[in-house]
Amino acid sequence: MATTHLPVLGGHPQGAASTCRQDAWYAGPLATLLFLCTALAYMTWAALQGNHYYADPYLSPLYSPVIFTDLSAAGAAPSWHAWVGNWPAWWPAALPLSPALLILPFPASFRFTCYYYRKAYYRSFSGSPPSCWVSPVSGRNYKGETSLLLFQNLHRYAMYFAVIFLAILFYDAAVSFYRRGEGFGIGVGSIVLTINFLFLSSYTFGCHSFRHMIGGGADVMAGKSGTFRHLRWKFSTWFNRRHMAAAWISLAWVSLTDVYVRLVSMGAINDLNSWN
Ligand code: FES
Repeated sequence: MATTHLPVLGGHPQGAASTCRQDAWYAGPLATLLFLCTALAYMTWAALQGNHYYADPYLSPLYSPVIFTDLSAAGAAPSWHAWVGNWPAWWPAALPLSPALLILPFPASFRFTCYYYRKAYYRSFSGSPPSCWVSPVSGRNYKGETSLLLFQNLHRYAMYFAVIFLAILFYDAAVSFYRRGEGFGIGVGSIVLTINFLFLSSYTFGCHSFRHMIGGGADVMAGKSGTFRHLRWKFSTWFNRRHMAAAWISLAWVSLTDVYVRLVSMGAINDLNSWN
C-alpha cells in the first residue's frame, strides 16, 4: 500500500519534525522550552539588580557567596557577610554592582553542562531531534557533543565547583536560623533556604560525574556488594534515578527562594518568624 511516510533510518519519516506518532509528543519539549526560558529570564533579571538580595538573616542563593557588597544598595548584604569587603573602585562602570555576576557563572556552568539538560536543549532548543521517533526540525543529523556545545564535556570540572557551592549553601541555611544580636530562631525564610539546600543537594548527589567521583573506578559493579565504594555508588544512584525531577524542582525552588528573600527585603511581605 502506498504511504506518504517512508520509514528511514531511526524509524521516523523524513522531513522537519515528521513522525508517525499520534500522541502529543511536542508537549514535553514545549513545556521544557517555556520553563527554561522563564527561569533563565527571571534569574538574569534578578542577577542584574544588585539589590534586595538580603533580609537578615536570609541571603538569596543567587547571590551566595557575597564577594563584595555595595552598602549603598537597598537590601545589600552587610560588610561582615562579604568575603572580601566593600565594592572595589576598579569595577567597570558599565557593569552593574551586583555580587551575583561574580559567582553565578559557576552554578550556571554546572546546570548548563548537565547530562540531563543536554537532552532538554537538543529536544527543545535545537529540535535535534525534538522527540523519540520524530525527525530533526532542522533536517540536520544529530552530532551530539562532537559538534554543538562541545564545551559541555567540561561538566566534571563544573561539578567540583558545584560541590563547593553546596557547602556554602549549607552554611547559608544554617545561619538563617541565627539573627545577628538576637540568637537562634526560626522563620519561614529559614525553612525556604533549608529546602533550597536539600533540593540542590538531591540534584548534585544524582549527578553522573558526582557518582563517578564517589563510587566510580570499577568497570562492573556486580559482585562488589558490601564494599564502601558500592555503598557510595548506590547512594548516588538513588538520586541519579530521580535526577530529572531534582533538576526541575531545584531550578524552580532556587528562583522562588530569591523571590521570597527579595519580597521580604523590599518589605512587600512579612517573614513569619520567632524573632519578632
Ligand atoms: S549530570 Fe546532571 S548535574 Fe551532572
